[in-house]
Amino acid sequence: MKKLIVANWKMNPLSEKEAIRLAKACDLPRVTIAPPFVFLAALKKILKKARLGAQDAFFEKQGPYTGEISFGELNDFGVKDVIIGHSERRALGETDVLINKKIKALLETHFRVILCVGEPFSVRKKGLNAAKKFVAKQLLADLRGMKKFDNLTVAYEPIWAIGSGKNDDPKEAAQMADAIKSLIKTPVLYGGSVNAKNIRGFLRERSIDGALVGGASLKPAEFIKIVKAAAEY
Ligand code: PGA
Repeated sequence: MKKLIVANWKMNPLSEKEAIRLAKACDLPRVTIAPPFVFLAALKKILKKARLGAQDAFFEKQGPYTGEISFGELNDFGVKDVIIGHSERRALGETDVLINKKIKALLETHFRVILCVGEPFSVRKKGLNAAKKFVAKQLLADLRGMKKFDNLTVAYEPIWAIGSGKNDDPKEAAQMADAIKSLIKTPVLYGGSVNAKNIRGFLRERSIDGALVGGASLKPAEFIKIVKAAAEY
């Protein structure tokens, strides 16, 4: 399988002008760009090679849900991939129950769902086995009641590695990817302080199918290097 690179812009940049500049520079094959919702319309017009992604979606189709965005609306903007359950959303109060509803609704559509899981440092410091147990529990809660996972991709993102400059050890991340694959048959991405220097270490691992990139996806020169590296595998 070709390796996939997903750019998670989070709440960046500040203007549509900057978003367009960034998207044009990073419009490459086998890439998904997930901008803030407000830039989807602009990016839909300009992206030629990259797929458009969203950073979240609500589980109801339509109705009185102030501030939420439905997958029907995302579909209208040409979105193909949706990130669900990012640890930054979980930190704001998103629960496994809510994530489960979103994934159930989304897996009935054609969207590729990128479900984020990962342990806090308090767990990882007890060892990789403790982290595997934590992630397995999270995964089972998020996917409760589901049997078919055709459009699912899991992103393993240890919370302590996100935005910290301290990436996981690729061999340990690969062991985690194997543990996830032993529970469900799904591609597994790694995320957490991925950059142009460390990307090869992760992609070299057969069980890691790509990367979810935050900070480095906002720097075109760095991001292009990551994508070029991914094309080697
Ligand atoms: P980071 O973020 O690459 O800045 O660590 C990754 C993510 O949160 O998806």
